[in-house]
Amino acid sequence: MPAPDEFVVTPYEVKGRIDYARLRELFGTQDLTPDLLARLHRIAGGDLPPLLSRGVYYSHRDLGLLLDQYEAGSPFFLYSGRGPSGPLHTSHLVSFDLCRWLQKTLGVRMYIQITDDEKFWARSGLTREQTAYWGMENLYDILALGFDPKRTHVFFDSKSIGALYPLAIRVARKIPYSTVKAVFGFEPSTNIGLVFYTALQTVPCFWPSWAEDRPVPCLIPCGIDQDPHFRVTRDIAEGLGYPKPSLLHSQMLPGLLGENAMSTTGDREDNALFLNDSPTTVDRKVRGAFTGGRATVEEQRRLGATPEICSVWALWRTRFARDDQEFADVTRDCRSGALLCGECKSRVLERIHAFYEAHAEARIRVQGWAESTIVTEAPKPL
Ligand code: TRP
Repeated sequence: MPAPDEFVVTPYEVKGRIDYARLRELFGTQDLTPDLLARLHRIAGGDLPPLLSRGVYYSHRDLGLLLDQYEAGSPFFLYSGRGPSGPLHTSHLVSFDLCRWLQKTLGVRMYIQITDDEKFWARSGLTREQTAYWGMENLYDILALGFDPKRTHVFFDSKSIGALYPLAIRVARKIPYSTVKAVFGFEPSTNIGLVFYTALQTVPCFWPSWAEDRPVPCLIPCGIDQDPHFRVTRDIAEGLGYPKPSLLHSQMLPGLLGENAMSTTGDREDNALFLNDSPTTVDRKVRGAFTGGRATVEEQRRLGATPEICSVWALWRTRFARDDQEFADVTRDCRSGALLCGECKSRVLERIHAFYEAHAEARIRVQGWAESTIVTEAPKPL
């Protein structure tokens, strides 16, 4: 992919100030228009979740086609995943939150991939024991968001390889090395695990169609950084006789330190709120978070602050505002100078603590059944 000078977005690197409109053009994805959102709204009923109504999801591939099929009586399944490189932080919930909502409203199946192999190959600092350990820990957090045990299936790569491999064999044969080299920017020193890996990320897109001998449509909510994998998937789908997956892309959420993405790669612990942070740590991180506030209280009262660049506003936006009205109020009061950053942080902290408490309880409950969602057997011999 030709990267513009100012920023880089690939599954293995996110760097610079991202221009999302330009990124959509570069990737060649489609705009998530108000019309499409209205259509989804009509089909789903109720309220749209904040991630859709507040623009965090902003791009897609073939969502219209997927909705056509859905309305014609052909339900899709959801697919998303997580590379377990450490504890989850709140921005990792973006794709799973949307999946949970879609599963709940439309009653669709969910497939989750946990790539403990990928993260071992991609992150030189991690041991196999660590990626396997975080894989299970992350899975508990994901399931605790409220997935339905009966309709949720997990590909935990190292444990599910027997179920994935028969299809991976076919997928891998369709992907030339020149493609992955160009798409992911691989170097001669890249280990061959990663060269093969994209085949494994493709497999779940086709798995239900393979298992059921009929085309089953697939919808993948994911960060836009994952799109390159699925461009490869979509290119080879027809040749294998499977439908191309549809995608819904989200923006990366800004980190607490004012960085572009809530990434903690390197040594930037304080850039994100981890789900296993203690209440004191959460307090410290939010209190120290980058905002769009002014240098002095007087100035802020007079000129107002800038929500769009504020990492705390991003927390309200994605999860912690109770509804669109409250979100609009916070935004307005921030911009007018009526709401100062200290007060805003105290208010959001209450919400965060309440969420962490409820989540911790839900997490204990899922541990009893999490293992049983892991798919270990191929649906047929070949
Ligand atoms: N590669 C993703 C990561 O590094 C994990 C992943 C696997 C994924 N399958 C996916 C993400 C499907 C989104 C959709 O986190």
